[in-house]
Amino acid sequence: MTSKLEIEFPPVDALTSDAVEVLDVTHWTDKLFSFSVVRPASFRFRSGEFVMIGLLNEAGKPLLRAYSIASPFWEDTLLFYSIKVQDGPLTSRLQFMEKGDYIIMRTKPVGTLVLDALIPGERLYLVSTGTGIAPFASLLRDPEIYEQFDQIILTHTCREIGELGFSADLVTRTKTDPLVGEIASHKLIYYPTTTREPSNRMGRVTNLMESGALFEDLGMPNLSVQTDRVMICGSVEMNMDMKKLCLDAGFSEGSNSQPGDFVLEKAFVG
Ligand code: A2P
Repeated sequence: MTSKLEIEFPPVDALTSDAVEVLDVTHWTDKLFSFSVVRPASFRFRSGEFVMIGLLNEAGKPLLRAYSIASPFWEDTLLFYSIKVQDGPLTSRLQFMEKGDYIIMRTKPVGTLVLDALIPGERLYLVSTGTGIAPFASLLRDPEIYEQFDQIILTHTCREIGELGFSADLVTRTKTDPLVGEIASHKLIYYPTTTREPSNRMGRVTNLMESGALFEDLGMPNLSVQTDRVMICGSVEMNMDMKKLCLDAGFSEGSNSQPGDFVLEKAFVG
């Protein structure tokens, strides 16, 4: 079958620089999909990092965007999670890829959503909206996170219930994972919320933290810099609001060179 990519743009093939083969594609909703690619033999990364991914433009030049790797550092394949933006230069085309196609992946991983950028603590909050869940899909299947923290709370806020499918599946897979399943069953807590469709828990995570409802639901004390650490990944607005919430609670922002109490990264948007 001829895909939309092949009609209008030069295709990426096995000979294109940094080409990787697509292994499978899952469409979660009409706006969200995930895909996995073959991991290049020499490619190393830390769980939580991102790489540049893309296709060729009309002129045959790479058109690349940042994508968090959604698989742990030890896995043979690399998983990515993406929104479909109908007029987005990349995702309007990327969404049509199929098993056996090739895409470009630059093999230079970077990012601050890594355990090395956090000061040790007892409880770790992974706070995400939309496709911001992707780096946490990597971290949650890395045994290190369970060695470093007693409790890990994954929050995922989306507009509608259907958009929570990826994180719900992630939590199920993590709790049955041969490597981390047993410990994750004890330490991982999932806190999904919706904002525009009625569900068991509604509201923006920021509001639920500010009002104390989230902590009440979980039976946990309010955020404390003595015990808690936070990783944030979502829209620019959510990141800014969560950052303020953390700063107001006395948390310091961490980086690779200077670990802190919280770290944040913008989710891939279009
Ligand atoms: P809301 O529906 O109230 O805007 P989007 O699809 O726009 O990227 O949003 C994904 C989720 O993030 C939505 O549930 C949205 O809630 C929520 N969200 C957007 N902005 C913020 C913010 N500043 N703080 C917390 N959550 C936010």
